Amino acid sequence: MSVRIRPLTPHIGGEVEGIDMRRPLTPDDVAAVEAGMDRHAVLVFHDQDVSDEQQVAFSRNFGEIELALGSNVTTDAERRLDVKLADISNLDRENRVLARDDRRRMFNLGNRLWHSDSSFRAVPAKYSLLSARRIPSTGGNTEFADMRAAYDALDDKTKAEIEDLVCEHSLIYSRGQLGFTELSEEEKRTFRPVRQRLVRTHPVTGRRSLFLSSHIGTIVGWPMPEARCFIRDLIEHATQREFVYAHVWRQHDLVMWDNRQTMHRARPFDETREARDMRRTTIAGDAPTVAQEAA
Ligand code: OGA
Ligand code: MN
Repeated sequence: MSVRIRPLTPHIGGEVEGIDMRRPLTPDDVAAVEAGMDRHAVLVFHDQDVSDEQQVAFSRNFGEIELALGSNVTTDAERRLDVKLADISNLDRENRVLARDDRRRMFNLGNRLWHSDSSFRAVPAKYSLLSARRIPSTGGNTEFADMRAAYDALDDKTKAEIEDLVCEHSLIYSRGQLGFTELSEEEKRTFRPVRQRLVRTHPVTGRRSLFLSSHIGTIVGWPMPEARCFIRDLIEHATQREFVYAHVWRQHDLVMWDNRQTMHRARPFDETREARDMRRTTIAGDAPTVAQEAA
């Protein structure tokens, strides 16, 4: 069966037909999905009733799995899923909904802010693949914004100004925006800031994009408040409706996105009453975007 992709908006998103993730892909299938990712930056696959193992096997077609370590405040003993899967649910190990004031839940609310996955790691993620195992009766959409279209729409003066800027990213900054500031010394060490270029060039298409994320806390060489105002304006520009695809989940959807060219955010649902079980595999990036400061 051959792969077909239908665009979902003028800029971002494609809906894929002709893939069954429970079976091995042919090299042609893998190439078609990669080409679709390069073009649409977000791909939607419906009716993929996969196990964790099948999701991991499908993901491996696109690179090395980035392990879900150092990305939240859930301890190893509390972990619900294998370390190859990031737990994007509101559930504990016994599949009970987390309490409203549960520290893990409050930390994970950071997903409601626009971000790029693992931009807080020295080598940020390439792709993310999010599988909807169980969805709430209403709400809980995921929105994706096209950072290539956002870059293209900047005026030349702004493009020149940002060309060589480097930002510092950390989970401390995104959670700080939500007033989540109580972190242990060990968590602070784990979440210490990393540097990322603000403008990236896609290795295959050569298109430029804005590497934005709510994990950004400052721009190297700038006063912090000025950097934050500037980044806030850029995020507002980059997330205008015309650059956004809003995904309304169906059970067994799998959505795959390129973190190098997009931002995304979760939308609310009745989180303390309904279960939402989403599981993410992440494909590691291949290099830092900029030399890191000596430790
Ligand atoms: C993620 C994420 C958003 C959502 O999986 O990385 O940010 O809607 N998810 O759950
Ligand atoms: Mn995310």
